[in-house]
Amino acid sequence: MEGARPPVITIDGPSASGKGAVSEFLSRKIGFNYLDSGLLYRLFGLEVLSQGISLSVLADDWDESKRLVNCLEARIDGRKKVNQNVSSSAISIVGSVDARTEQAGAFASKIAKMPTVREALLDLQRSFRVNPGLIADGRDMGTVVFPDALLKIFLTASPSRRAERRHKQLKDKGIDVSVAKLERELEDRDYHDSTRGLSPLKFLEDSMIIDSTDLDVEQVSFLIEKKLGEMLED
Ligand code: DC
Repeated sequence: MEGARPPVITIDGPSASGKGAVSEFLSRKIGFNYLDSGLLYRLFGLEVLSQGISLSVLADDWDESKRLVNCLEARIDGRKKVNQNVSSSAISIVGSVDARTEQAGAFASKIAKMPTVREALLDLQRSFRVNPGLIADGRDMGTVVFPDALLKIFLTASPSRRAERRHKQLKDKGIDVSVAKLERELEDRDYHDSTRGLSPLKFLEDSMIIDSTDLDVEQVSFLIEKKLGEMLED
């Protein structure tokens, strides 16, 4: 069909709900591109810190955010813009270990409240929408960035399960933090991400809600594929 835009599946939800693992698994399985928008916010935050930009300048100066996005874009592999199977997120190529720390997550959550930052990152996020389709994970993928998505998922899990998962991820990277501390940090970040005025984390009437507390990556992916199959049959 001429003019049809590549399909998007959005997977929104709180930190450590399994969005990244499910998105990556499913994108490999069905051959879609993958946008890890949280990593984009984390990398943007690291750019702010490494360039020593003050938060008040960032909040007031629209051009400064655009300039930082250009710096970030220059570091992202151009492969995401061509029509080929990118099996993992193109931005993970520039994602360093630093970007995955809880501190980087907390700083990303802080700058993500600023309209200047969210606006400046919009076009870059949308540029990932290329054939054969995109799986986009984040907080506002279905509400703001891709409101016309084919399928919108809201993925959640209990705070304790999410803290356990994050603990394992960090331990695998040699970072040791207590599960109780992680649970407090995750709840704190959930609060900020879901109560901010702009693009808060929330589920939509038209989203499919999946609770992954007792499900693994393959089981969640199976549910999403099943739903897709049903939609395409209709
Ligand atoms: O998914 P994550 O934990 O890597 O995201 C880090 C932070 O970035 C998160 O706490 C809030 C912000 N973020 C956002 O505001 N909007 C998105 N679409 C993705 C992340």
